[in-house]
Amino acid sequence: MPLSISHTRAETQSQVSQWRRAGQRIALVPTMGNLHRGHFALVERARQVADRVIATVFVNPTQFGPDEDFNTYPRTLDTDATGLAEAGCDLLYAPSIADMYPYGEPRCWVEVPALSDILCGAFRPGHFRGVATVVARLFLHTQPDVAVFGEKDFQQLMVIRYMTLDLGFPTEIVGMPTVREDNGLAMSSRNQYLTPKERQRAGLIYRLLRDTEAAVHRGDALERTLAGGLRTLVAAGFSPDYFEARDAESLGPVSDGDLVLLVAARLGKARLIDNWVVRRP
Ligand code: PAJ
Repeated sequence: MPLSISHTRAETQSQVSQWRRAGQRIALVPTMGNLHRGHFALVERARQVADRVIATVFVNPTQFGPDEDFNTYPRTLDTDATGLAEAGCDLLYAPSIADMYPYGEPRCWVEVPALSDILCGAFRPGHFRGVATVVARLFLHTQPDVAVFGEKDFQQLMVIRYMTLDLGFPTEIVGMPTVREDNGLAMSSRNQYLTPKERQRAGLIYRLLRDTEAAVHRGDALERTLAGGLRTLVAAGFSPDYFEARDAESLGPVSDGDLVLLVAARLGKARLIDNWVVRRP
């Protein structure tokens, strides 16, 4: 099946209705485009769990802060379409801003207050409200049985899980492990803001996460280890926003269960995020 491309909600909904009438299971992979191997891994997973795969490419203005990179975010729809076709996607939905936000400024927002003001939410006010709002709309436009998201954006995945359960969307949420470069750097559309030297140096984040995991297993004092990690980042030229440990189920304070180490740090022109779940015996 060749890839179809739809630029409107109406066209997308008519295709979805046709698939639904044929009893087909539909998977959704929402993205902002400039696709890389991490995104394609989500599409391949979606292919395994559904009959039809829809990927969306939409650079969502409501999740960018006023000083963020909405205008310069890389837009590469033609190459994205080629990659999606190869990965086995059936429909690329690339809506216009007017399709997603017919009244301009949203008249209706979706918020997940328990998760929106911590970690990245504290540094990017309004970001997760924008994410939840656009993902809810994408769910309504495409009516997926299943939607696939990356664990790389751990907090985002949790926001979407909470939203889906609380609003009762009939969509199963699947999380996919982070796809990394050879040096451990989590793949991201924003990595292209890095110079080649910075890209090399950015592998430090992954090493730090794994070293911290080893320290947790050794029983080292967590607060001291995290403070040391922040110093390591600063010494290597990063400007960290945070390096924290949280309960992996709730993002609340660390408990006896699995914990997640989460880091956000700026390097050159890029803001990088990554995380690692530490399993407890
Ligand atoms: P974007 O950054 O394009 O990411 C789209 C999806 O790809 C997200 O689920 C993200 O977690 C996943 N992803 C990104 N890099 C990955 C990697 N290295 N390995 C595995 N998965 C990866 O996240 C967004 O767009 C937006 O916020 C969106 C959910 C589309 C709402 O606008």
